[in-house]
Formats: sequence, structure tokens, C-alpha cells
Amino acid sequence: MNTLTGKTALVTGASRGIGRATALALAQAGAQIIVHYGRGASEAKAVVAEITAAGSRARCLQADLAESDGPHRLARHVRAIVGERLDILVANAGIAKAATLEETGVEDFDELFAVNVRAPYFLVQQLLPIMCKGSSVTLLSSLAAHVVIGELSAYSATKGAVDTLVRHLAADLGPRGIRVNAVAPGVVNTAMSSFIRTDEGRQMTLNLQAIKRLAEPDDIAAAITFLASDQARWTTGATLHVDGGSKLQAR
Ligand SMILES: NC(=O)c1ccc[n+]([C@@H]2O[C@H](COP(=O)([O-])OP(=O)(O)OC[C@H]3O[C@@H](n4cnc5c(N)ncnc54)[C@H](OP(=O)(O)O)[C@@H]3O)[C@@H](O)[C@H]2O)c1
Repeated sequence: MNTLTGKTALVTGASRGIGRATALALAQAGAQIIVHYGRGASEAKAVVAEITAAGSRARCLQADLAESDGPHRLARHVRAIVGERLDILVANAGIAKAATLEETGVEDFDELFAVNVRAPYFLVQQLLPIMCKGSSVTLLSSLAAHVVIGELSAYSATKGAVDTLVRHLAADLGPRGIRVNAVAPGVVNTAMSSFIRTDEGRQMTLNLQAIKRLAEPDDIAAAITFLASDQARWTTGATLHVDGGSKLQAR
């Protein structure tokens, strides 16, 4: 269904994983896409080629979101392309580092917060002038923000911050008609969670979930596409759990 025809979307970290699947899903729903990437230029170009081959419009833009002015530079380039209107922002780019408290260094901690929290925050700030009534923002939280899994305390704290931001930004931007939500995936089959490609990792993941199969990126993209659409017009300030019923007993 072309529910997003005429809309323009920016998806950060769309060179692979959940961001790539989201860019493809939003394009399939009719939106024009800006495919943001960090290091994966050839992967991002391949996503653009796939979208244009299917008859939709897409461009790619590079920005390192670990740099303090990365979101500002990206927003400037986006504004130069789309002009005065951005309908959909999916701030998906993120990094994870599995490490114990003792192993976590200050640089790693700062980079996690820079990419996962600071970048979405300033991207929303810098793109706000071109977001209008009906625009939507979706951030990426995680199951790890809500339950303890693995050695992920610093990463999980970034996702807890995302959940908090969603409520505050939704309250701030609601009067302008802009919705802000997050999706919180469980373990998804991407490079970030490549441990699920081992027998042990697969079994551990299946043991977490009510639904007994591994999550693929398009399972998450479907929920993000819903949140970006008018079907979610009354949903804001929410973190949507998209995790196959992971750790239901523990929540
Ligand atoms: N996979 C999971 O199990 C899982 C679970 C819960 C939440 N999440 C969240 O979902 C989001 C996407 O995760 P994923 O699994 O799709 O990860 P992924 O496959 O590792 O992809 C990460 C994406 O983020 C981009 N990125 C990372 N650091 C960047 C930087 N400094 N500057 C610009 N772009 C950067 C990468 O771009 P380049 O490759 O082009 O540099 C890539 O496109 C993240 O926010 C993650 O925390 C994932």
C-alpha cells in the first residue's frame, strides 16, 4: 500500500541492517528516501540503486555521527536536498559494545553516547525547522533498556536515554503536530548481533522469545513504517516493543 506517497524520509544508518530494511520499506510505501551512511558508501549506493530500480526516488548522504558536528552537517545537506519539508526522520544509526563495567573505557562510553543519544538529539533539533504538522520521528531503543541481557550496561544506558528523550520530545513537539516514538527491538539478525548466527547464540535468543524464530531487519522495519504512517496518528511518546515477546516474564 502506498501510504507514504509524496512524503520525504531520512533514515540514518541505512547502509545495512535495520536502517537498510527501513529505507526499503518506506520506499515501498511510496516515500522518497535519503539513505544516510557512515563508512558504508558502496552499501548505501546499493540501497539507493535498489530503491530506484523499484521505481521510487532515493539519494545517499554521508556523515560521521560520532563527530560532534556530524548531525549538524547531515541536517544541512538534508535541507539542501529536500528544501522546506521533511516528513519522516528515522534516527536508527547506532553502535553497541559488549563490555563489563571493568572493561569499559571512557572513550568507548563517550562514543556510545555520541552516536546513540547525542546524534539523534541534535538531528531532531537541526531538522525541526523543516518538520511540519504530520511529521514523525522514530528513534531506536532496545530490549536492553528494559531488561538485563549480556554485558551491555553502557549501551543499555544509551537506550534508556532514548526512551526518556522520546517522552520529552513528544511532549515538546506534540503542539506542533509532530509525533515522536521509539521502537525497541530484541535481538535482530544484523551485524550488530552477529552472535545469533552461532548455534549457541541462536538458542539463547530463541529462549528469550515467546515467538520461536529469529528476528530479521524487516520485522523491525514494518513497525517503523507503521509509526511513520497516518495509521499511527494518535501514537506519540511511546516505545513500541518489537521483540517477538522477549523476556515477557521479566518485564
Ligand atoms: N541488531 C539488534 O539486535 C538490535 C537490537 C536492539 C536495537 N538495535 C538498534 O537498532 C539500530 C540499528 O542496528 P543494526 O542492528 O541495524 O546495526 P548495524 O547492522 O550494525 O548497522 C548500524 C548502522 O549505523 C551506522 N553507523 C554506526 N556508527 C555510525 C557513525 N559513527 N556515523 C554514521 N553512521 C553510523 C552504520 O553505518 P556505516 O556502516 O555506513 O558506517 C550502519 O548503517 C541501532 O540503533 C541499534 O542499537 C539493534
